[in-house]
Amino acid sequence: MKRTNYAGLIDEQYLGQSVTLTGWVQKRRDFGDLIFVDLRDREGLVQLTFNATHQEALNVAEKMRNEYVIAIKGTVINRDKSQINNKIRSGKIEIDVIDAEILATSKTPPFYIENGVNANEELKLQYRYLDLRRPEMQKNLRIRSKIMSSAMQFMDEHDFINIETPILAKSTPEGARDYLVPSRIFPGSFYALPQSPQLFKQLLMGAGFDRYFQIARAFRDEDLRGDRQPEFTQMDVETSFMSADEIRDLVNQWVKCMMHDVVGFDLDISNIPTLTWQESMDKFGTDKPDLRIQYELKDLSKIVDKSEFGVFTGAIKNGGVVKAIAVPGGAEHYSRKDIDKMAQYIERFGAKGLAWLKVTDDGISGPIAKFFDDSSELLSAVEAHSGDLILFAAGRTDIVAATLDYLRRQTAKDLELIDTNNPWAFAWIVDWPLFEYSEDFDRWIAAHHPFTMPNEDDLHYLNDGEDPHKAHAQSYDLVLNGYELGSGSIRIHRMDVQEKMLKALGFTKEAAHEAFGFLLEGMEYGFPPMGGIALGLDRLAMLLAGQENIREVIAFPKNSRATEPMTEAPTRIHDNQLNDLGLIVPESH
Ligand code: AMO
Ligand code: AMP
Repeated sequence: MKRTNYAGLIDEQYLGQSVTLTGWVQKRRDFGDLIFVDLRDREGLVQLTFNATHQEALNVAEKMRNEYVIAIKGTVINRDKSQINNKIRSGKIEIDVIDAEILATSKTPPFYIENGVNANEELKLQYRYLDLRRPEMQKNLRIRSKIMSSAMQFMDEHDFINIETPILAKSTPEGARDYLVPSRIFPGSFYALPQSPQLFKQLLMGAGFDRYFQIARAFRDEDLRGDRQPEFTQMDVETSFMSADEIRDLVNQWVKCMMHDVVGFDLDISNIPTLTWQESMDKFGTDKPDLRIQYELKDLSKIVDKSEFGVFTGAIKNGGVVKAIAVPGGAEHYSRKDIDKMAQYIERFGAKGLAWLKVTDDGISGPIAKFFDDSSELLSAVEAHSGDLILFAAGRTDIVAATLDYLRRQTAKDLELIDTNNPWAFAWIVDWPLFEYSEDFDRWIAAHHPFTMPNEDDLHYLNDGEDPHKAHAQSYDLVLNGYELGSGSIRIHRMDVQEKMLKALGFTKEAAHEAFGFLLEGMEYGFPPMGGIALGLDRLAMLLAGQENIREVIAFPKNSRATEPMTEAPTRIHDNQLNDLGLIVPESH
């Protein structure tokens, strides 16, 4: 039997036609002389009916069980009125089966294959090929595929050249920890899997390609989160002779195109806001603000400094700030107990407490109300209205920012205050600091990466005797609904600037040449001004598919411990393989 159609695409238009379908048994209902089978393929479900008119087919149907692979031939007929299901495309019809064959049997699967299945995540990953049979997962991976095709087409139309870069590359001290691959030919030496094609794409600009594009795999050994996997995919772009504005403009057009192709959304790119990094931190406490949420952080330091409340005045005296958000409708929604729970949660950000006020028609209430005899100045500064809950954070600027960023997002979720009129809130964040202090490394690191061009006016900060940490960078992030979707910059294309930058990062000349000598040397042979960006494909696919974890848009992802439960990677390797590589693994490991 040769398939004529996808099962899930059969509808009333096919009435009276003979079709041959293949797929999996979703469900079987056996009434003796009448058997119903739901047949599933990648496009959806169709109902099959077997009856005694075609006894041989009925006999085969008796043997069918969930997840058997079958082929059938039959006629498209109207369903009995009582059986109509308007939720699925094929809900008005069914197939009157005249011939049937079982192509493969199946063990009972460890979980029932349907959307929203309530199975253990680890089990689903162990049987990923079964999990992927779920319509939701089929949809997610098709969204991912559509994004890639759309990107490829856009880039091709805009004269970008697809160029692949090595996966077995050199370890360079840039950001996260590397995944290393031992060399057999040079025991003790290692390749590193690329954290991004960054250096190669700069070298390609040096080679004169002018416009590069690659859907590139990147590898980073870092702590995993919902939007972070150890291997992920970048839609990676580099251009020569373009300004930051021109690059952002190109990305806007590209994103507009993808939104149209993938979800049919007409994105108005003339309205994408651009915020400086400082503005974003001030207003939202984060560099990836969710602009679907209307309320912002308000700095109350000047107002509360006059109050008698020691927590606030103390924080300011110690060089900190007092900021607050007014959560619309929060006064009624949250009980004292709820607020205590929030206060406990925010301890992870270093917060020492959570002061709050409820706003009523009669003014303010709550434990700290007594410190504000006249609340009008406070209420207008925080833009609070009757019914709002005001949440305060006092202390170090970064702790206050992290605390209120979290509270803003969480309260918006709790109270469903995420603006649905603006489902795709893109924003550009620009004018980043060139460096950031890393608590982990206890030193200054490049905020984006060491090849990012400082602002023209800030170049002098890299000179001897000046404070490089004051410099801002020609870098930009594209944010969508509170996620960092992409990140890019204008690059340093002159060796003198690059050397100064590496020096500011603490590299000696020798160390810089050992790590990045090939790039520095290249710059001595006429490299053009260049810039680019990489968008995270997994994150974009996750958002467009309405998911909250990038695992849902990756066919075979790692779990939160960076292992892959199906193949059980990483695994131990045999001694002879270790010997070949000149490696010894201590017994204790
Ligand atoms: P960056 O490191 O910001 O920039 O990465 C670019 C984008 O890739 C996505 N991303 C990730 N997605 C899933 N899992 C991860 N572990 C992960 N890490 C990053 C994010 C991010 O915005 N070479 C530069 C780009 C450039 O300057 O052109 C780079 O790699 O969406
Ligand atoms: P205390 O005087 O320490 O009992 O605190 C009074 C109120 O202020 C309580 O609701 C605390 O949760 C809150 N609070 C304490 N420290 C801070 C802080 N750093 N930021 C915001 N609120 C705080």
